[in-house]
Amino acid sequence: MLNLVIFGPPGCGKGTQSARIAERYGLVHLSSGDMLRNEIEKDTTLGKQVKKYVEKGLLVPDHIILKKIYKSAIKYINSAGIIFDGFPRTLVQAVMLDRFLHKKDILLDMVILMLVDRSELYQRLMGRAEDSGRKDDNEKVFHVRMKVYEKETHCLKNYYKKQSKILQVNGMEPVGDVSDKIANAINYYCKNNRIYSKVI
Ligand code: AP5
Repeated sequence: MLNLVIFGPPGCGKGTQSARIAERYGLVHLSSGDMLRNEIEKDTTLGKQVKKYVEKGLLVPDHIILKKIYKSAIKYINSAGIIFDGFPRTLVQAVMLDRFLHKKDILLDMVILMLVDRSELYQRLMGRAEDSGRKDDNEKVFHVRMKVYEKETHCLKNYYKKQSKILQVNGMEPVGDVSDKIANAINYYCKNNRIYSKVI
């Protein structure tokens, strides 16, 4: 199995790159944001529960997201691997993911941190807002999402650095170039069991 986490601020390209990596390596793409939006769209009980958080750019409580992720991930423990996109997003989620994988005797191979300037993030999301239909793609909620990222999620960098699992990727380049760099790093890891320590 090849199991990856991808994280970074809103609009850094997590979803875009996850889809490409999943296709290239035959992995299952688990996007916590897509799962929640799907529940909201279907107006399920969970959707009703999480709508207010997602639309305001706030994090859904850990216990809710953990339950949803476990339920999905468990179906794929015999697959070629999973790329977790947008999860974990808090230290509690990261610790719980480690425990979950450990119990299943599964290794988390690499954690990809996407680095993109704030002004570029803003431009991307305001550009997407025109046709995404996402209630959180607007100026006010963008600033909330950024604040939440800095307060709750950015600290995962140190958490995974201590585990020597972090791959830092400059996500400012064109989509295809970013994908190629990530693929090179994954291939290097698969061959040498080591992760590039420099920003690529
Ligand atoms: P989520 O869906 O994860 O939103 P996000 O983190 O704000 O990220 P985005 O989906 O907006 O962006 P992305 O980084 O995936 O970039 P993308 O590839 O789309 O979460 C939404 C909400 O759900 C959260 O706010 C929270 O409420 C809740 N939630 C989710 N997970 C949770 C969790 N674990 N715990 C608690 N709550 C949770 O690209 C963005 C745009 O940029 C696109 O238009 C794309 O085409 C473009 N683009 C991508 N790459 C490039 C590039 N290299 N150059 C130019 N343009 C690019």
